Amino acid sequence: MSELETIQSDAESRIAAAADLNALEALRVEFLGKQGSVSGLLKTLGKMNPEERQEKAPAIQALRQAVADALAAKKDVLEAAELEARLATETLDLTLPAPEGARGTVHPVSQVMDELAEIFADLGFAVATGPEIEDDWYNFTALNMPESHPARAMHDTFYFPDTAPKGGRMLLRTHTSPVQVRTMMAEGAPVRIIAPGRVYRSDSDATHTPMFHQIEGLVIDRDIHLGHLKWTLETFLKAFFETDDIVLRLRPSYFPFTEPSVEVDVGFAIVKGKRVLGGSGDAPGHGWMELLGSGMVNRRVIEMSGLDPDEWQGFAFGVGVDRLAMLKYGMDDLRAFFDGDVRWLQHYGFSAYDQPTLSGGVGARA
Ligand code: PHE
Repeated sequence: MSELETIQSDAESRIAAAADLNALEALRVEFLGKQGSVSGLLKTLGKMNPEERQEKAPAIQALRQAVADALAAKKDVLEAAELEARLATETLDLTLPAPEGARGTVHPVSQVMDELAEIFADLGFAVATGPEIEDDWYNFTALNMPESHPARAMHDTFYFPDTAPKGGRMLLRTHTSPVQVRTMMAEGAPVRIIAPGRVYRSDSDATHTPMFHQIEGLVIDRDIHLGHLKWTLETFLKAFFETDDIVLRLRPSYFPFTEPSVEVDVGFAIVKGKRVLGGSGDAPGHGWMELLGSGMVNRRVIEMSGLDPDEWQGFAFGVGVDRLAMLKYGMDDLRAFFDGDVRWLQHYGFSAYDQPTLSGGVGARA
């Protein structure tokens, strides 16, 4: 065997034995690197005379080619093996159960507000909002409750020490009615809005919490009368409770910002000790439940909101959102709404995928 053949078979057997890509790279440097043994042989060609070079060059070139080919072939084998090994550790077992779904639920208050927005959007109402930290003027004065008005005392108001820009003190709004004034002042007439949001009163028991939710309704246009109010409330309540068996009783009442004022009761029956909406409250075994306050907007409110009450009339109503949720979904303690107990939320909460739609029925499915 010639010297070159010995070098070649030695190189080939060492390349074949290389355990991994690092070992192979070390061999490449050893043979073909700048200081490599095969490279060293190639350099000797430069010092030969032409005849000698012509005689020896092909064999040395062939050696270099053979070593390079062996390196490349082994590299392919090692890379394939490495990929194989990586794929083996990264397998995805498609027989495993699917990951658990989202755990959070939509709070009944949010669900009911979504349902109300959907129902009223269908009737052409936009959604309006106002600040929870309110100016005395919007919460009371502009709603026909001047400084000394006795109705103010009924609101158990949380006041701030700060003086309000329009006089009196800043406060946490006690109802959503100030949004009536803000909307008329900002947008003029006609108006057709609902205004859902948080309200605050210093009061706490099983049916009262210091913070609760209301939704205000306001329609201002020409020639609006009590019939429009009654039809709107009936349509809304039938859609909300998903039954045509809703009987309303309109009772004369008093709110400073509506004239006349109407309190609306809804008939219920007692079934297995629970109140179930439906039927006249006057039927045997039935009763009436107070549901909301409403009335024709007092002309003084329209005036203070910058509109001409001889041209524009309207109606307004205010409902407790939490109360609507309790009636529809059967909770009996309002305080639990705000405890943040996950067990309660899992029981009474709604899927985020369950968007209320009129076509699908606004109510959430169990
Ligand atoms: N703002 C009243 C309340 O909180 C409800 C109401 C709204 C009454 C609109 C009449 C008109 O009790």
